[in-house]
Amino acid sequence: MNARLVTGLVLLGAFGAALVFWPDTDDRTADTVGKSGPNVAIASPGSCLPCHAEVVAEWRQSMHSQAFTDPQVRAPDQSDNFRKPECIPCHAAEPIFSYGIEDGTRALARTARRQDGIDCLSCHGLPQGGVASSRTGLTAACQPVYEAKMQTDSLCAPCHNQHDTHVEWRASPAAERGETCFTCHMPPVKRDGSEAGAPRAGRDHRFLGGRDHDFAASSFTLAHELTDDGRQLSVTITNTFAGHNLPTDSRNRALDLVVTLLDARGAEVPKAEGVGDRFPGGETGTARLRFRNPYRSSGDPTTQIPAGESRTLTLPVPETARKAVIEVFYKLQPWIPDSEARWSERQEFELPG
Ligand code: HEC
Ligand code: HEC
Ligand code: HEC
Ligand code: HEC
Ligand code: HEC
Repeated sequence: MNARLVTGLVLLGAFGAALVFWPDTDDRTADTVGKSGPNVAIASPGSCLPCHAEVVAEWRQSMHSQAFTDPQVRAPDQSDNFRKPECIPCHAAEPIFSYGIEDGTRALARTARRQDGIDCLSCHGLPQGGVASSRTGLTAACQPVYEAKMQTDSLCAPCHNQHDTHVEWRASPAAERGETCFTCHMPPVKRDGSEAGAPRAGRDHRFLGGRDHDFAASSFTLAHELTDDGRQLSVTITNTFAGHNLPTDSRNRALDLVVTLLDARGAEVPKAEGVGDRFPGGETGTARLRFRNPYRSSGDPTTQIPAGESRTLTLPVPETARKAVIEVFYKLQPWIPDSEARWSERQEFELPG
């Protein structure tokens, strides 16, 4: 027995499985180990790599893989490099199946390999060994076991319901249509490369969220209407696709709707009374609305847009205005200026003279 094997067996003790330990290296290939060989005990994402290279590559792009290394989370005013132990459970989690997934269950902190954040076993690990799968009848070295909860929101709730994302989802049109967290956040992908069992259908493990422009910008639609003989403009934003509030409850996020009216020379028209409030991260435009779950300490009410609902920004249109520009800015932090938003959307149209 080599030293690595011994360490592995010791680590495995925590799982109580008496299996051959799979060395945590990235240099084996599925071919050299044989997919139908003896059962392998499984640990880090590196141990899945020989047979699940595509899934591991997707996971590495996800925020789950960075949950323990993310500088935002490690900042002094946040977890302070995880000196605050209460921050560890959801950012470096034990397999959540190991203590049962029930309503109200909270994640537990992992002691080993914390830098892997939310790793494969956080979601797939089973207390008896093997991995939880949403398919029945699979035979493989990693011992897939059918687990109905893989396709329910209970898998995400221990970590994601701290800000009520699940409560919002239960009341959403998406939930009524039978769409749950993984339906939107793990869209189907084709596995036809080196992946075990390929070719077959898989599920995207990048877990795209607000950061990804294409994914997030698909969550809303914009519409506008001129009334009062063209002297009043109403711009409406509707949360059509997010299965919960837009933006989500992470208190750092802000979604800003900004309308700018321009005159014939392309200069901004003078602002009317009562529109165009100014605040850090909200300096530009003729009128603007912010959607956000504010910091608790501010005492402000939430202005997020619940699933299926709309919000309208109405402003007067002076006679000198010739053009309207509608913009939506998505910010990872609320004080970020429009010019440094993570992504933005823009529409413009001429105004009748
Ligand atoms: C020696 C190769 C091998 C290793 C190592 C391995 N697996 Fe697997 N795994 C397979 C094969 C083969 C299948 C069956 C694929 C099929 O038939 O579609 C499978 C299936 C699965 C499934 C079920 C797939 C589905 O469609 O529902 C999951 C989940 C899974 N593996 C997770 C893991 C995780 C997590 C690890 C590492 C901790 C791992 N596996 C390590 C070979 C392996
Ligand atoms: C109950 C589980 C849980 C605990 C405990 C927890 N977090 Fe988180 N954290 C999450 C989840 C889930 C997300 C992703 C949420 C989202 O984006 O809506 C997150 C995201 C974050 C982010 C945002 C990162 C980004 O993408 O910008 C920061 C910062 C953060 N957490 C800090 C902390 C700190 C500091 C603590 C301890 C005081 C802590 N967390 C404790 C579950 C948790
Ligand atoms: C063991 C805890 C845990 C579980 C289980 C979990 N997550 Fe996460 N998730 C997190 C944490 C923590 C983050 C934030 C990491 C960061 O930003 O540093 C996160 C981030 C995300 C993000 C990306 C947010 C962003 O800022 O881009 C999405 C989307 C997401 N999770 C969806 C899901 C879904 C869907 C499920 C269920 C299938 C799930 N998660 C299960 C802890 C968890
Ligand atoms: C109908 C599709 C849909 C469903 C169902 C859905 N989401 Fe989302 N989710 C989105 C979209 C679109 C976004 C991007 C816009 C936003 O940030 O709200 C998003 C964003 C997120 C984010 C990213 C937050 C960030 O700050 O980047 C997290 C975390 C998340 N969802 C978790 C969940 C969880 C947990 C569930 C199940 C309770 C769920 N989602 C159900 C579509 C969906
Ligand atoms: C945040 C939770 C979460 C994490 C982390 C996670 N998975 Fe999954 N995984 C799921 C869910 C949920 C499904 C089932 C989706 C379905 O039923 O279609 C799944 C499905 C799979 C499948 C079968 C579908 C496919 O895409 O091929 C494999 C294989 C798999 N996971 C392997 C892994 C490996 C390997 C890792 C680590 C690199 C990992 N998973 C990390 C939640 C997770």
